[in-house]
Amino acid sequence: MPTLAVYPGSFDPLTNGHVDIISRGARLFDRIIVAILVNREKAPLFSMEERVEITRAVFREHPNVEVDTFDGLLVDYVERRHAQVIVRGLRAVSDFELEFQMALMNQRLNAAIQTVFMMPAEQYTYISSRLIKEVFSLGGRVHGLVPDMVEARLRDKLDAKR
Ligand code: PNS
Repeated sequence: MPTLAVYPGSFDPLTNGHVDIISRGARLFDRIIVAILVNREKAPLFSMEERVEITRAVFREHPNVEVDTFDGLLVDYVERRHAQVIVRGLRAVSDFELEFQMALMNQRLNAAIQTVFMMPAEQYTYISSRLIKEVFSLGGRVHGLVPDMVEARLRDKLDAKR
């Protein structure tokens, strides 16, 4: 049976750390679905449509990478998609506590689904979407840390605010 993995997250915005994890997942699993959370509580910088468009554009040459959105419980979405694995990236020990809690909660909610942790390449271990937004909005360089399309969109957003 082909192994289908789901890589969930907010991706606001997609970083090269995410790209690294998705690429690794695409080599390891038959198919990986990048599942972007529809989060009604947070006001994202990038709309859901933009996040889907960017991720699809970055992986347009990877036929086994699919981009989708989800709402509600992650395990319900994974089950609906007939996937077996949840992929999460682990950058540092500081990620571990929350990731451990989520993996165990998801395991309790649906014991048939496995969480697999993957580490990005070393140069991406300190990147987070939050830090990218903060650094860029304060005039810092994020080149090489996010896909070029994300950098261009960040610039557009900053210009629009001026
Ligand atoms: O990119 P993020 O914000 O770290 O991703 C967090 C995400 C989307 C994986 C998590 O918030 C999630 O799974 N949300 C869906 C609701 C859910 O299932 N919550 C219980 C998780 S134990």
